Amino acid sequence: MSSKQTQRLKNYKSMVSLYYETITGPYLQFWGEHFHEAFFDNPHDDFDKALLKTHQLFLADSKLHSDDVCIDIGCGIGSFSRFVAANIGCKVLGVNISDYQLKKARKLTKDKKVDNVLFKNVDIMQLDKKVKRKFDGAFFIDVGCHLPDKKKALKNIYQVLNKGSRVVMTDWLQRNSLNSFEKELLIEPFNHYWNYPYMESFEGYKKHFKKIGFKIIKAQDVTELTKKNWDMFYDISLREINNMTLKKMISSIKNPSILMQGKKPLQIAKNQFYANIFSKLCCDAGVFRYGYFVLEK
Ligand SMILES: C[S@@+](CC[C@H](N)C(=O)[O-])C[C@H]1O[C@@H](n2cnc3c(N)ncnc32)[C@H](O)[C@@H]1O
Repeated sequence: MSSKQTQRLKNYKSMVSLYYETITGPYLQFWGEHFHEAFFDNPHDDFDKALLKTHQLFLADSKLHSDDVCIDIGCGIGSFSRFVAANIGCKVLGVNISDYQLKKARKLTKDKKVDNVLFKNVDIMQLDKKVKRKFDGAFFIDVGCHLPDKKKALKNIYQVLNKGSRVVMTDWLQRNSLNSFEKELLIEPFNHYWNYPYMESFEGYKKHFKKIGFKIIKAQDVTELTKKNWDMFYDISLREINNMTLKKMISSIKNPSILMQGKKPLQIAKNQFYANIFSKLCCDAGVFRYGYFVLEK
């Protein structure tokens, strides 16, 4: 393990908080309110249509009903939590480690007058200790990549589910086996720029699911269906770099207090350019994969 990776594992909490305090503004400006990928089952769909179809798939696979209570684990600014509440009618608890995003989530939920969604600051690595009730379903969308111990996180999720409840999950993955050059020249910078401690592999996740006791309903490598997202980020990055100024970058961060914390936040914002370049590069090189999983307790 590289010394940089050891640091990322140790500092996962502060790393995630600072990353999202910095990057939530640019994400909203350049990506949208959902911070995950769309599945393009039809290559002619635009991003919004593909994203809506992806969300409909997540809801159908969750098997949730209106009298259920579910948890959206690593909920961003609560956009998918609100989508679930509005479309299923069930109660939703969104948990996140970023106070900055939680504040935004609560404000948006109040402004949009959605009343069956609540939010709580919970570190997933402590989920079983901090959340005292059990849920009828869980969404775990593009979050595992940030966590220092994926198996422990999944065990915690298992603990807070009722028997028969499902987890609908997506995650960023590394290919099952990598040579030392792929690790050093592709995956290590990828993880550094995206602020990930490490990525799990498809087979690695399947082993964890089985060990913990989850029944695997779906385990799909959906890299081909999601490739268009990385192309899109790449194109946006190349377009923006030509027009970017320091003033524009600072205004996209939309969080003046974070800019008082020294040079790090600005570097995180700049690194997002490389993050986007590396997504396409690592996807084209076949070392970065994207997984869709539906699990049942
Ligand atoms: C890529 S975003 C996905 C957000 C949301 N699921 C969505 O799809 O829009 C990852 C989210 O996971 C949260 N997160 C990362 N590590 C966490 C942890 N240890 N505990 C709780 N939330 C965490 C981040 O703050 C962020 O909101």
